[in-house]
Amino acid sequence: MAIFNKAKDNISIKDIELPEHIGIIMDGNGRWAKKRGLPRTAGHTAGAQTFRKIARYCSDIGIKYLTVYAFSTENWKRPKEEVNAIMKLFKEYMIEAINDFQDDSIVVKFIGDRSVFSPDMLELIERNEQDSKDRDGMVLNIAMNYGGRDEIVHAVRNIAQDVKEGILSVDDIDAQLISDNIYTATQPDPDLIIRPSGEYRTSNFLLWQSAYAEYCIMDVLWPDFKSEHLDKALIEFAKRNRRFGGI
Ligand code: IPE
Ligand code: IPE
Ligand code: MG
Repeated sequence: MAIFNKAKDNISIKDIELPEHIGIIMDGNGRWAKKRGLPRTAGHTAGAQTFRKIARYCSDIGIKYLTVYAFSTENWKRPKEEVNAIMKLFKEYMIEAINDFQDDSIVVKFIGDRSVFSPDMLELIERNEQDSKDRDGMVLNIAMNYGGRDEIVHAVRNIAQDVKEGILSVDDIDAQLISDNIYTATQPDPDLIIRPSGEYRTSNFLLWQSAYAEYCIMDVLWPDFKSEHLDKALIEFAKRNRRFGGI
C-alpha cells in the first residue's frame, strides 16, 4: 500500500505541512458492533486492529507524536465484561509490542493514572516504556485510565506538595509549571485532535494540552477508520488558519 494516499480533492499529504502532534479519540467501537449485531467487545477487538494500523501509518508518514485515547477514567462505569475485554486487549498489545517490535523506532508511553493497574499490567507498561525509551521515532502515548481533570488534579497535588516542602513558592506557579507536571511534560501540545464517531465533545481528553488544538470530528466509526480518513483530517488541518489569539 502506498504510504501517501491521495485524498478526494487530489491534494496529497506529501504537499502539506503535517501536525507535529495528533490526538485521536478512538470512539465508536460499540456502535460499530451493534450495527453488525455483534457484542460490543467485538467492536473493541476490531478497534484494536485499527489502532495498530493507524499508529503504524502515522509513524510511516513522519508524525512525531501520536496520543490515542483508549480508556477514560469514566469508562469504569461500563459493564464488568466490557471493561475486562478492553483490559485483555490492552494486555495483548503490550505483550505483542515487547515481543515483536524490538527493532521498531516507536517510543511507547502510557499516560493516565496507572496506580489502579495490577502488578502484571504495571510490569508490562514499564517494560514497554523501558524497552522503547531510547528509540528515535514517533512517540506513541497510549491514554489508559486517562482523564484530563484527573491529570490536572495530580499536577496540582505535586505542585502543592513542592510548595509545602519549600521547594517552590506560590509565585513560581505558572502555565509552564503546570505543563511540566502533567503526563505529557516535555512534549508539544497536540495540534490536531481527531474524533471519529461524530460526537462533538472532548470527553475529558487532553483538557490542558488542547487549548489551541484544531478539532476534526469525523463521521466514521473507529473500527472503519482508514489511512484515507487520516489523510482527509490532515488536509483539513492544513487548510485551517490557526491564530492562537492573534490576528
Ligand atoms: C470507544 O468506543 C472505546 C472506549 C471508550 C473504550 P465506545 O465503546 O465508546 O463505542 P461507542 O461510543 O459506544 O460506539
Ligand atoms: C471517550 O469515549 C473515551 C475513549 C474513546 C477512550 P466515550 O465513549 O467514553 O465518551 P462519551 O461517553 O461518548 O462522552
Ligand atoms: Mg463512545
